[in-house]
Amino acid sequence: MCGIIGYIGKRKATEVIMNGLKRVEYRGYDSAGISIIENGKLVTIKKSGRLNELNKLIDHNKYSSNIGFGHTRWATHGEPNDINAHPHLDNSGKVSIIHNGIIENYSALKSLLTKQGYHFKTETDTEVLAVYIGSIYEKNKNIAEAVRLALADVTGTFGLLVIAEDEPDKIIGARRGSPLVIGIGKNEFILASDQTAIVDYTKHVIYPDDNEMVILTKDSYVIKNLDNININKEITTIEFELNQLEKGGFPHFMLKEIFEQGKTIENATRGRIILATGDVRLGGLTEVADRLRTAKRIILTACGTSWHSALIGKYMIETLARIPVDVEYASEFRYRDPVIYPEDFVVAISQSGETADTLEAIREAKRKGCTTLGIVNVVGSSIARATDAGVYLHAGPEIGVASTKAFTSQVTVLLLFALYIGRMRSVSQTEGIRIIKEIQEIPKKIEKILQQADKIKEIAKRYSKSRNFLYLGRGYNYPIALEGALKLKEISYVHAEGYPAAEMKHGPLALIDDEMPVVFLATKDEVFDKLRSNLEEVKARGGKIIAIATENNEGNELIKNKVEHMIYIPETLPIVMPILSIIPLQLLAYYIADELGRDIDNPRHLAKSVTVE
Ligand code: F6R
Repeated sequence: MCGIIGYIGKRKATEVIMNGLKRVEYRGYDSAGISIIENGKLVTIKKSGRLNELNKLIDHNKYSSNIGFGHTRWATHGEPNDINAHPHLDNSGKVSIIHNGIIENYSALKSLLTKQGYHFKTETDTEVLAVYIGSIYEKNKNIAEAVRLALADVTGTFGLLVIAEDEPDKIIGARRGSPLVIGIGKNEFILASDQTAIVDYTKHVIYPDDNEMVILTKDSYVIKNLDNININKEITTIEFELNQLEKGGFPHFMLKEIFEQGKTIENATRGRIILATGDVRLGGLTEVADRLRTAKRIILTACGTSWHSALIGKYMIETLARIPVDVEYASEFRYRDPVIYPEDFVVAISQSGETADTLEAIREAKRKGCTTLGIVNVVGSSIARATDAGVYLHAGPEIGVASTKAFTSQVTVLLLFALYIGRMRSVSQTEGIRIIKEIQEIPKKIEKILQQADKIKEIAKRYSKSRNFLYLGRGYNYPIALEGALKLKEISYVHAEGYPAAEMKHGPLALIDDEMPVVFLATKDEVFDKLRSNLEEVKARGGKIIAIATENNEGNELIKNKVEHMIYIPETLPIVMPILSIIPLQLLAYYIADELGRDIDNPRHLAKSVTVE
């Protein structure tokens, strides 16, 4: 949510900034802007719309500055127009800031500053902070100190960069609740909301914690907390490679990421499964293993697609580990004073590791004294650091705003997690081996599903004009129905609902007519016969059925002539099935959105990594 990038060093700042903004554009794309200090003067250029609109305004030959920053916005306060775009300036016009997050007490600060004679040009909370910093700077003439003092009075969240014309060799960064990474180069530094904007220049990074700030010149950095105490931080290395940030010949990141899933599942399981003994090894959980063995309750908390993974995780953990599991929307959990016992485990599931609600849910759980775990993709992210222990997905950067490969990796890691605890409790070695064998087969089976992309594309073309879709499934496929519907909604803007198939007759069946495409997850499992009855009920009312069915299921004969289309996926255990059954739904959503000409990687109103609540 909002991408930020700052640079100080020897390179041409405008180029580094624009390059970085392209990398973080998936975090927000309502408007964009930059500030640089050119020949001692602050220059700010900003524009609503996508990054190329801003780029058109920048005369790259004209500028040679080596310091500056840029911002790509996902609007929270004020509509996404030119004036509300970041950067924002103080009243002197000499201090510029970019900001990711929300200043909650901006109204109070604004009225205070207005009374003191300061004025405002925009509706944003960020401008208030800029003016406030400027008002302190006016008196103390020390930009780092002005930032520090101003932030002490701020409630809310920020990932913030500041430059001042009168201190043209300095860039200040600070964070609370919004991500900020410092890239350490040779006589140069990059500050960004995201590792992806840094990896072009250096793989060495520092992750400041909340309420910390950094003061950079081209050859020095000082990190301190907002209480003015200097802090030493470890330099770590970014794990992924640059080519993971390219589309690799695919028209969209989303399609590339769908096709990567065989590999990403391998990465999620590598070194973690032991076929000979049917065991799972999760190094990140060693310290809490004993407590997990005797856990009385696990609470999974997440948002959006990750919440759908959590629902599947509940079924998996309850089946294999026989521990009751609650699944909570992080945004609800954090505010409703949940009952948490010290012996509970609260597990956050998050691709980005930065989702504000999920992060706060974990903090709330910690305050209540239980053990917290993270199942997270981005290494070094806030949730990864805030939790007591955890397991990384190792899915590599996910750039498409609609989550695909992170979802299947989350479900895979949740299966490993369930089996890990299950083997410490009641799951037999034989059962462990049976499941691990199937896990090893997943990448091959995913490839088989992906080979049907053209067939799914044809089905997508046929239904691309439909304005409503239903997705129905039972058991492990119920959360898949929810996830399939979400994928379609978010990238094609077509209304879709996911439902547990048996619930249809309690109301939603009234929606069915001969215009309604209904996607049935009709895979082979113990509820197949029950689902078949639900399918008959939809058919009897004229619904157009697309069935996702398992190869070699004798039951298919009974549904074949009731449906318009069958998409076959390979056979596996029901507990492994959701990792396969989501893939045709990802492709269906992708091809419908493509047919409708949607901006698939950057759907309207959305952004990757929701760092505001
Ligand atoms: C949908 C999607 C979102 C995210 C949600 C949580 O495709 O990507 O629903 O799943 O915003 O994000 P993370 O997993 O980063 O916490």
